[in-house]
Amino acid sequence: METVATPCPRFSGLRRSCPTFHNAPSQSFPPHINSLLRLSSSRKPSRAVVAMAGSGKFFVGGNWKCNGTKDSITKLVSDLNSAKLESDVDVVVSPPFVYLDMVSSSLTDRIEVSAQNSWIGKGGAFTGEISVEQLKDIGCKWVILGHSERRHVIGEDDQFIGKKAAYALNEGLGVIACIGELLEEREAGKTFDVCFQQLKAFADVVPSWDNIVIAYEPVWAIGTGKVATPQQAQEVHLAVRDWLKKNVSEEVASKTRIIYGGSVNGSNCSELAKQEDIDGFLVGGASLKGPEFATIVNSVTSKKVAA
Ligand code: PGA
Repeated sequence: METVATPCPRFSGLRRSCPTFHNAPSQSFPPHINSLLRLSSSRKPSRAVVAMAGSGKFFVGGNWKCNGTKDSITKLVSDLNSAKLESDVDVVVSPPFVYLDMVSSSLTDRIEVSAQNSWIGKGGAFTGEISVEQLKDIGCKWVILGHSERRHVIGEDDQFIGKKAAYALNEGLGVIACIGELLEEREAGKTFDVCFQQLKAFADVVPSWDNIVIAYEPVWAIGTGKVATPQQAQEVHLAVRDWLKKNVSEEVASKTRIIYGGSVNGSNCSELAKQEDIDGFLVGGASLKGPEFATIVNSVTSKKVAA
């Protein structure tokens, strides 16, 4: 992956002064988007140390999807339990429903557990569904909602996803809220429109942003091995933060973690982590291997750029 390197003067403080993105040619958006990016990226070069625009702790989630057996999951849990993880990262794994209880009772407390879906309301006569109350009952702290596989394979729409998010948050579960464009939407210059519309659907219904992590996952990068370049990811993360600033509040924009997902692995995580608006990752395939997942968690060290 190529990054655009610019000489970085030494400063001390909280924010990197020369994010590479500002000087990178934007290859992927039409002119009106580029001008928006220029407007929204006019951060003053000021203090710098940590390449982090948001104020939240680095967050890495492992989405195991519909993978694993009792044996493979026992091994994965044991690898995770013995992994050395940097302390300044929130780490979450999301096993398939049937193994949730087993994982949450055998996994170290250092790592929290997430569900991959939840029902829109209280449990009852909803065959095949799992309620937020049941998830909390087995020690689950998070739920992934709006994942592209649920949007595009299962057919969930913004409104349905919004209902799930509102209910989960009202009941005290954290939500990993996924957004992201299809390849044809990117090629048609609609990346921001799609992401903003999906974001708005969350913003319209959620009671607060305290317990939400946004996962930007371009659909064309999920499970394809085709990772977004650090610049492509940074562009959208910056735009999402800007959207939150304008449409929710400056405080929410600063404290909400915006994590990247889509073919993240042990080799590409550190370049991505260096981007100012990337606050962590949602990892699919590579989260099924304990040591590689640990490498991704520990990519937080790339964020601590000496200024
Ligand atoms: P991937 O999946 O890392 O296998 O691309 C990411 C995700 O779907 O969350």
